[in-house]
Amino acid sequence: MEQLQIFLMQFYLPLKALHIVAVISWMAAILYLPRLFVYHADAPVGGEFSQHLKVMEHRLVRFIMTPAMLTVFVFGVLLMCVPGTISKPNIWFHTKMLFVLGLSGLHGFFVSNMRAFARDERPRSSRFFRIINEVVALLMVFIVFLVVLKPF
Ligand code: HEM
Repeated sequence: MEQLQIFLMQFYLPLKALHIVAVISWMAAILYLPRLFVYHADAPVGGEFSQHLKVMEHRLVRFIMTPAMLTVFVFGVLLMCVPGTISKPNIWFHTKMLFVLGLSGLHGFFVSNMRAFARDERPRSSRFFRIINEVVALLMVFIVFLVVLKPF
């Protein structure tokens, strides 16, 4: 374990850069998907627009959103192994993890909504997706402030 820590220490900054790149990709996708749902919720069932949205949502989740989330986790865990990153006091880190859990829960919720839209259901109203979109944005802002300011 100690050797792994020393090894990872040399790559601290590149690891952090990769973590941030993955975060940007995850956030871009998780903010865009509910915007697509806003249009999808009002699109006529079986129409050409609805079919087009289904393809866009599926590709966004499969090729960007889920791989980006997994990449964020991988580089996040590697950063945790670098000595000093989450040294005490680290209440900011536990709070961050709580918000990350919230984002991951929303990720799963969006995937299940995408599947419902693919079955030609309309799981929620466009107003609901507009509001939940703001929740994602707020969580993201809280997390970034926490990791940069480390206030507690
Ligand atoms: C399982 C998920 C995650 C883990 C384990 C994790 C862990 C970490 C760790 C250990 C650091 C290094 C802190 C330091 O250098 O002092 C870090 C940095 C960072 N994380 Fe995460 N993170 C995760 C998810 C996220 C998410 C979802 C976001 C944003 C929405 C995020 C944004 C950032 C940013 C912006 C930094 C750079 C902070 C700085 O340079 O001070 N992370 N993360």
